[in-house]
Amino acid sequence: PEKPMEKLQTPSPPSHAPTQDDLKKIAAFKAVEFVESGMVLGLGTGSTACHAVARIAELLNQGKLSNIVGIPTSKKTHEQALRLGIPLSDLDHHPAVDLAIDGADEVDPHLNLVKGRGGSLLREKMIEMACKKFVVVVDESKVVENLGMSGAMPVEVVPFCWKYTAEMLRGLFQRSGCVAKLRFLGDGEEPFVTDNSNYIVDLYLEKEIGDLNAASDAMLRLPGVVEHGMFLDMATTVIVAGSHGVSVKNK
Ligand code: 5RP
Repeated sequence: PEKPMEKLQTPSPPSHAPTQDDLKKIAAFKAVEFVESGMVLGLGTGSTACHAVARIAELLNQGKLSNIVGIPTSKKTHEQALRLGIPLSDLDHHPAVDLAIDGADEVDPHLNLVKGRGGSLLREKMIEMACKKFVVVVDESKVVENLGMSGAMPVEVVPFCWKYTAEMLRGLFQRSGCVAKLRFLGDGEEPFVTDNSNYIVDLYLEKEIGDLNAASDAMLRLPGVVEHGMFLDMATTVIVAGSHGVSVKNK
């Protein structure tokens, strides 16, 4: 008689190093531990913040959180939160925000940030300036020594004569070898338009900015500039998830 086939044991899945998205999720979930029932919450924008929004919704649906009011920092986050059933409001109705959780593009050792590579910097800054506690969630790739050296420094500008404003911005950072580029939608020729109907000029720098506060003031003095992506002295906590674990840095 034919021998029955030997039953093979299912191999356990290979343990793999966490992906960048795993790390973003770990940082986001850690931040949601700061959320308490009854809070008014700033809901950040981007691939890291959306894990936090999803987690908040999950806890609300499980009845582990209640009475939460979310203030979304972009139309995209508004849509996500609405879809997941988080009660929403805005700064006009809830000007005192208890806690905001958001990602960042860069974090320096003083917890200063670059934000806005996702294009939502203006609403993010308005809401995160209004909150008592601002928890930033990043994977380890976002940690830098000096801001503005690892990619674009986004600046939201009015569309009117944007080339003139971009040239003024380039001039401000001439000593840092600045190149100023209008942001486009994907690979197309259509300018990227923000939730506030503005454009984004991305600044690429070759050398350190130096005095960040002076740079911020100088940008804001240009009439065509609406807001820039340096978030100085705003984060109260930064949670960094890396391949060796999670670190929590407080201001
Ligand atoms: C959007 C932002 C985002 O928080 C920032 O770009 C980080 O995004 P991600 O979590 O997708 O890396 O500032 O304006």
